[in-house]
Amino acid sequence: MFANPLAPEWLDTPAEANSLPSTVWSQNSTRTKTGELAIAGVAASELVRHFGTPVYVIDEADAIARATEIKAAFDGEFARIGSSVTVYYAAKAFLCTEIARWMTAAGLNIDVASAGEMAVALAAGVDASLLGFHGNNKSLSEIDRAVCAGIGTIVIDSVVEIGRIAEAATRHGRTQRVRLRINSGVHASTHEYLATAREDQKFGIPLSDAEAVVARIRSHSSLKFVGIHSHIGSQIFDTAGFAEAARRLLELHARLSADTPVPELNLGGGFGIAYTSADAALPVAELAASLASIVDAECTRLGIDVPLIAIEPGRSIIGPSTTTLYTAGTIKDVLVDGGAVRKYVSVDGGMSDNLRTALYGADYSARIANRVSSAGSVLVRIAGKHCEAGDIVVRAEYLPGDVEPGDVIAVPATGAYGWAMSNNYNYLARPPVVAVRDGKSRIIVRGETEDDLLSRDAGITPSGDSE
Ligand code: LLP
Repeated sequence: MFANPLAPEWLDTPAEANSLPSTVWSQNSTRTKTGELAIAGVAASELVRHFGTPVYVIDEADAIARATEIKAAFDGEFARIGSSVTVYYAAKAFLCTEIARWMTAAGLNIDVASAGEMAVALAAGVDASLLGFHGNNKSLSEIDRAVCAGIGTIVIDSVVEIGRIAEAATRHGRTQRVRLRINSGVHASTHEYLATAREDQKFGIPLSDAEAVVARIRSHSSLKFVGIHSHIGSQIFDTAGFAEAARRLLELHARLSADTPVPELNLGGGFGIAYTSADAALPVAELAASLASIVDAECTRLGIDVPLIAIEPGRSIIGPSTTTLYTAGTIKDVLVDGGAVRKYVSVDGGMSDNLRTALYGADYSARIANRVSSAGSVLVRIAGKHCEAGDIVVRAEYLPGDVEPGDVIAVPATGAYGWAMSNNYNYLARPPVVAVRDGKSRIIVRGETEDDLLSRDAGITPSGDSE
């Protein structure tokens, strides 16, 4: 088989296009005897029959295992250097009450970024003291609700928030634990929109202002300053950025601890995952070991005790757990300049259930889920059904050349920021989220119906009512 000249350099022409590389697919993804994709023992055809398509299928044991693994790896490595770690699950990646319960049962805390995320975590029965609250523009009402609920920590993102949180804490008769988000100035190697510690962006306080700002926080008796925080960005593969941020933060931490001890240091999240077999995610154990050695070496150099460490991963816990199933509709061979052909396989979802490809040019992979095929592989682009040329789910993948309308197309690693950023463009209803485990499936977030979509339109008279 010849490589299609339209294929990107990173995409290998596969010997066969049915395999499920374990670096990309959730742990319990297999092919059944008849060749179907099964996730945690539930065949794709069964999922489609019960829930239709598109559907997000979350491999429950995979998500829980990753949460447990990251907690154990960081606990182990930081215990070795005389510290301990609080792992916050970054709920913005994917949150519903069931996921919140899985995370806290695995020993994680939860990081929320709005009153809405906080409400979901509280509705799940999560103790407010386990929550951290982020946001560059928290409203007065969000601050008030968080303080009143007894939230564990609020991450201060700007000077103006200091007085607002102090005032709310006084009003509720509480001493509120707060962190300060620092813009470390580290340039993470990731998409521009996912890098959050460059100079020219909205998050945090510049390193150079930090000491003065901490002094202001400390001047409020209703606030308890527990440490600094940094998050350099998301979908990062190399440890160099994390290492540099940790060094800069520890230097500041040492200066801030000179007179009054600072108990904690939050290193943020952002650990990358594999979306295609060309991506090599850092093994969790390696990441934990390398961060622990950097923290240990820096603390020794600075002559300070190792602080309690916190991290906030979202994507690396939930991203690989979920696979989206679609049904292929129209298929077109499109002749591109120079005579090469790209096969466009359009599916019944698109940028409404996965915005990441359109927004960041993210790459994904795909497989036919209802069967295996020995047909030679062809280069495909999986497009959605929205009225927009940029509505693409998978930019480039090889699939068996006999892919046909009605085939079920599975796109792995859609757990992080897939459902979370889903929308109703073109009035498409958001798909359900189905958890699979040990051969059983159940809805954990129901899909929207057309009635849901019409229900907020004030110009529609509810059926049966007369004007
Ligand atoms: N902590 C803070 C303060 C954050 O802002 C974020 C992500 C995280 C933790 C979790 O990062 P993670 O471990 O999931 O990479 N919508 C984009 C990602 C935006 C991330 C925003 N902040 C995407 O789909 O790639």
